[in-house]
Amino acid sequence: MIRVCPLGDLPAGAAIRVVATVPIAVFNADGQFYAIDDTCTHQDASLADGWLEGCQVECPLHASCFDLRTGKPTGPPARKPVRTYPVRVRDDVIWVDDTVEITAVVDNGIIAGSAGSAAGEVVDGVVDGMVDPAARADVV
Ligand code: FES
Repeated sequence: MIRVCPLGDLPAGAAIRVVATVPIAVFNADGQFYAIDDTCTHQDASLADGWLEGCQVECPLHASCFDLRTGKPTGPPARKPVRTYPVRVRDDVIWVDDTVEITAVVDNGIIAGSAGSAAGEVVDGVVDGMVDPAARADVV
């Protein structure tokens, strides 16, 4: 687990980049926390520097959008998904589990990277992230 920051340092609508094996971007989308690879799969832009709207982040370089829940691109030019990671909130600190590696098959049947789905939600001041079972349906 990677310590991201205190809960109060990532308000709604904000993002932060953390250094792990690969750079990871963590977002607060209206109280839901998501973590994805920070580097856009199109070129070398930081998605933590992008624009967050709902559960979508728009790349600051060429405007590809990625769904934070699945990591899949929802707008060109990017075609490959970014990986997603489980997020936990414990004792008012945000953590990311960067050990989860899930390989997904995308629309055309080509294995194009890793994508799970992870969202953490604060309930009663403390709790947990979860892996979305719907996203697991894509796992091979
Ligand atoms: S670098 Fe992200 S869309 Fe081009």
